[in-house]
Amino acid sequence: MTVTAIDKVNLTEKCDLLVLGFSKKISKDSLFKKFDAKLKGDLSKLIKKNELKGKAGESKLVYTKGKLNADYVLLCGLDDATLEDFRNTGSCIHKTAHANKLTTATIAVLDESSVDAGEAAGALTEGLDLGSYQFDEFFKKKPKKTNLKSKIYADSKNIKAARAAIKQAKVVCEGVNLARDLVNLPAYNMTPVELGKRAQKLSGITVKVHNYAAIKKMKMGAFLSVARGTTEHPPVLIEMHYKPKTKAKKKIALVGKGVTFDTGGYSLKPPKAMDTMKCDMAGAAAVIGLMSTLAKTQPNVEVSGYVAATENVVSGHAQKPGDVCIAMDGTSIEVMNTDAEGRLTLADALLYAQKQNPDVMIDMATLTGACMVALGQDYSAIMANNQELAQELLSISEGTGENLWQLPLPDAYKKQLKSPIADLQNIGGPYGGTITAGLFLKHFVKDKVKWAHLDIAGPSFLDAPKPYCPKGGTGVMVRTLSKYVHSL
Ligand code: BES
Ligand code: MG
Ligand code: ZN
Repeated sequence: MTVTAIDKVNLTEKCDLLVLGFSKKISKDSLFKKFDAKLKGDLSKLIKKNELKGKAGESKLVYTKGKLNADYVLLCGLDDATLEDFRNTGSCIHKTAHANKLTTATIAVLDESSVDAGEAAGALTEGLDLGSYQFDEFFKKKPKKTNLKSKIYADSKNIKAARAAIKQAKVVCEGVNLARDLVNLPAYNMTPVELGKRAQKLSGITVKVHNYAAIKKMKMGAFLSVARGTTEHPPVLIEMHYKPKTKAKKKIALVGKGVTFDTGGYSLKPPKAMDTMKCDMAGAAAVIGLMSTLAKTQPNVEVSGYVAATENVVSGHAQKPGDVCIAMDGTSIEVMNTDAEGRLTLADALLYAQKQNPDVMIDMATLTGACMVALGQDYSAIMANNQELAQELLSISEGTGENLWQLPLPDAYKKQLKSPIADLQNIGGPYGGTITAGLFLKHFVKDKVKWAHLDIAGPSFLDAPKPYCPKGGTGVMVRTLSKYVHSL
């Protein structure tokens, strides 16, 4: 797949697919009028006949029967289009090209834009790229892919911004698709050690993978309590660092939950709840996906990524309900439910990440089923100890379409985490499970560190496809995090 920007579209444009945007104001669009005239009014007739209004999401494919050098015209409705509409349009273009075996597209839709044309070009690229993703590792006969070459038309005042946005989008989408691959690979293939190896393959950042002995030496007792059950696939602590060439303005720590499979442990999950649990390292995948982009996109901040990777499985060694473990900072935790394992692994990962004194720390985790009950699959929850940070992430996510919804962290709920025999217990009461999980993590965060916790349980793994994402791993939050580190 290639995407470039061009600053001219001629009536003689030679391509398989010419994409024109249309909206309510279509009669005033000079490019549309020119092509329509050349097609002897075919386009306007079609719009009239089908009562097309130009609403975002509408599209119509027209065969030009030799009247143009382009074989087909695809009309895409883009009235009051948002960036998300441009992403959806990008994926619609790819799907149309794929279904009709078309390999070159000229896309002239930015004129309809109610958003910044440069950003819209980036969003189109995201739709084209993410919409063409397929996880085909295990098929005996690989499904045919369409290698679409797209040219996006931007006028002379927007061409520079469009080129920059397209370049950035391509790199970031590689990171998103890497995160999707890591999630989609089954637990047998994507073990903690393998996850570490994938991180070590990234270029332009330093990566260290700490083994079991090192984790034990560091006294990460909460993390190890989860890992105790896995005798075949040992845990690892993955640490990644990116440094900008010039002096960094800030230090950002990103922590991802990396449970490569969550059976629940002795508090075993029922089969239906377990079947997608290879996705329980989606937070780690988002961190690794983002880290993979940094050497190419060069943000001005230092970014460190941390993943405490383990399986949550049963064996004679596995932790049992009622066991007490001791986190790296000495906090004792009574494990009342072995299925609330993510917060145990994260407690030590958060403590470890803070040893480098980051200014900001963001963790991402498929942490609670309660979050899916509350927000469904289109929203991740955000909880934070700093409202400014929460606000920054909320407003960035509006542009990326990776929806966030804030939940509170009320002190009043902290008593639910009290244990009669230890400093904390790892579950709260029957209600507000996403919040009590957030409060549990907050216990391990120093006040001076600006911290946000994203519970991505819903959006990280789809059981029905979306316009620019098939079923399975989504790579959610790579794009939002990328925007965040570049906004500083
Ligand atoms: N990995 C799960 C949460 C999850 C559920 C992620 C569904 C994605 C989809 C987590 O480890 C878990 O099992 N949480 C428990 C917590 C409970 C025991 C307090 C849950 O949500 O049931
Ligand atoms: Mg669990
Ligand atoms: Zn889990």
